Amino acid sequence: MIQFKHLLAAVGLACCLCPENMQAAQQSEDSKMDQFISELMGKMTLREKLGQLNLPSGGDMTTGLVQNSPLADAIRKQEIGGFFNVMGVEKIRELQRIAVEETRLKIPLVVGMDVIHGYKTVFPIPLAMSCSWDTVAVSRAASIAAKEASADGISWTFSPMVDIARDARWGRIAEGNGEDPYLGAAMTRAYVQGYQGNNLKKSDEHIMSCVKHFAFYGASESGRDYNLADMSRIRMYNEYMAPYRAAVEAGAGSVMSSFNTVDGVPATANKWLLTDLLRNEWGFNGLLVTDYNSIGEMNTHGVAPLKEATARALNAGTDMDMVSYGFLNTLEESLKEGTVTEERINEACRRVLEMKYRLGLFDDPYKYCQPERAKKDLFTKENRSVARQIAAETFVLLKNDNGVLPLKKQGRIALIGPMGDARNNMCGMWSGTCDTDQHGTLLEGLRAAVGSQAEILYAKGSNIYYDELTERGATGVRPLQRGDNKQLLEEALQTAAKADVIVAALGECSEMSGESASRTDIRIPDAQQDLLKALKATGKPVILLLFAGRPLDLTWEANNIPAILNVWFGGSETGDAVADVLFGKVSPSGKLTTTFPRSVGQVPIYYSQVNTGRPDPNPNEFNRFQSNYIDCRNDGLYPFGYGMSYTTFEYGEMRLSQEVMPKGGNIKVTVTVKNAGNYDADEIVQLYLRDCYADIARPVKELKGFQRISLKKGESREITFTLTDEHLKYYNSELKYGYDPGDFQVMIGPNSRDVQTKTFKAE
Ligand code: NOJ
Repeated sequence: MIQFKHLLAAVGLACCLCPENMQAAQQSEDSKMDQFISELMGKMTLREKLGQLNLPSGGDMTTGLVQNSPLADAIRKQEIGGFFNVMGVEKIRELQRIAVEETRLKIPLVVGMDVIHGYKTVFPIPLAMSCSWDTVAVSRAASIAAKEASADGISWTFSPMVDIARDARWGRIAEGNGEDPYLGAAMTRAYVQGYQGNNLKKSDEHIMSCVKHFAFYGASESGRDYNLADMSRIRMYNEYMAPYRAAVEAGAGSVMSSFNTVDGVPATANKWLLTDLLRNEWGFNGLLVTDYNSIGEMNTHGVAPLKEATARALNAGTDMDMVSYGFLNTLEESLKEGTVTEERINEACRRVLEMKYRLGLFDDPYKYCQPERAKKDLFTKENRSVARQIAAETFVLLKNDNGVLPLKKQGRIALIGPMGDARNNMCGMWSGTCDTDQHGTLLEGLRAAVGSQAEILYAKGSNIYYDELTERGATGVRPLQRGDNKQLLEEALQTAAKADVIVAALGECSEMSGESASRTDIRIPDAQQDLLKALKATGKPVILLLFAGRPLDLTWEANNIPAILNVWFGGSETGDAVADVLFGKVSPSGKLTTTFPRSVGQVPIYYSQVNTGRPDPNPNEFNRFQSNYIDCRNDGLYPFGYGMSYTTFEYGEMRLSQEVMPKGGNIKVTVTVKNAGNYDADEIVQLYLRDCYADIARPVKELKGFQRISLKKGESREITFTLTDEHLKYYNSELKYGYDPGDFQVMIGPNSRDVQTKTFKAE
């Protein structure tokens, strides 16, 4: 981790060197680009322009078939601006060759792919990555993903997904950075920087980032995918916008609109969202692409059939049409009918060409198609070792009674559970670009770690679900071999009987989260629940090694199992990374970025609640006519920011440099943190603020700062946060951004629950 910090510090320094010179250079580059594109567009027919706006999905094809593929045909006809979902540098190079050698205008293609958490070397799922709170590591992972993807023909990734998500039923919660806008914005900047680097045009190792899904997709009603997201402007601005805006400010080259409606209008055709807000208010000057067939889906939304939907999407500000073919096939007619203007078509075409220009594709259309690089840059030892290190940072230790963990490398350890030897299930959702057969299993990782010092026994123990059909739905493209439910359990108990300690590797399988993977029951699936109960009944110590792509309801587990290590989906190096943490080579340091509920009935749940007029006075009993439940407490089982370590950290008393923040001034908040335990470890120190009285009801606390620090055992460090009025600002009832002078509380702690508090006044 340390070396990553140096790297980013150096990058940061280079950026700040001389802003005036950089601005002047940028202006001259922009005017060169404008001139180049104006000249090119001067030669283009309307049909050729519309071709640039069309983005089809490639679909898989063999190398030999490229020449005669429908895609090659479309390129020759200049009917596409790019494509996505084609894997392999040789194929992509051939398609690019057709574009730049067999067409009239020789315009290169842009090639997209969902490179979500790595390419061949796979990093943990984004939700897990966010639990590292390590922006330097996130940036590093994104830059490795970019380096690998760019070596294999890809110039554009549909990542990061930055939708704030507070509903664990929604499978796509796995793809984002959790529930908090401040942390989400920090992670977003890190991804964009990592993918795009500092000079996209010159670098062949960086690719263009596409931030998604604009906007509010994470608020899909009842956690059901593709459902509507409906909320007040106040909530949009204060709770959901920050990450998207951070992406724009970090220079993300493109934005993808979302499937959902916003104020009833599909985001794809929502002019307020795409033009008034994104373009005019935030100054976004990159490319705006739709999500998959979302113009076509305006028909099933009951808003408009294809031609009208297309015109509305274009008029709202969309530049590129993913898959629906509305732009290519209907805009000519709409232009004749006067429902769209040539000016708007030109503007969209210009944006696509600008994207290609910024990527340097006009300088060298083959810059991302170098087969020699594909041979040496993918899944390298070095990349894998970074992935292993980062994966270990993302695991969250939820419980560890009597220091059961770390395990000693001795005796017999029984690894039991369907995820114990599931090679194709370690990466989690959106990992279609990797080769799972090259990944280690957990069993292999543990065996390699203990060598001859201990014996690792293994039994699968259960299917994912008892019911075969449900399991088929859950495992999708990554099926696991099923066994007989009863026999699996018997084998597990026989194996457990021989062991000193049991490691139960279970939870969700890879495809139970991500797109189209919503659940109404967010507990560990039935067959595995029963397995865990049976293992507990053996009386041997059980460690739950939890695989999950979302927060789960772990109420039973928290009451019954002495240790729970949540490893999410750790990517291609999961086996070794889990072994590193399980045996204490690395102390766990991940902290939750989503609240873990006590029951599905609590969701959506998040720490930054408003107080209400009737806050619950006592969580231990039901209080009628107060804001609480008859049958459950209000707070989650594990709060936002929570995660244990093998060591213990002691926080000294927080100090403020002064009790009044003068207008335009600042307050320094200082605390000393000591590693008082027996392991070198990392801690994530968190700072929260509460605005005591404001124009609108404000959250009981909001994250406004965090620092990830490494402390050797016995070491102490003084941590300082500098608060300015920027930290106090929010959007008020008139959507004005500012702060209300008056009392604020500042809180510091190891998570959002266990904080110490002081008050200050802002002038
Ligand atoms: C649909 C998904 O919503 C989006 O995230 C993804 O980038 C596109 N499909 C392309 O695969």
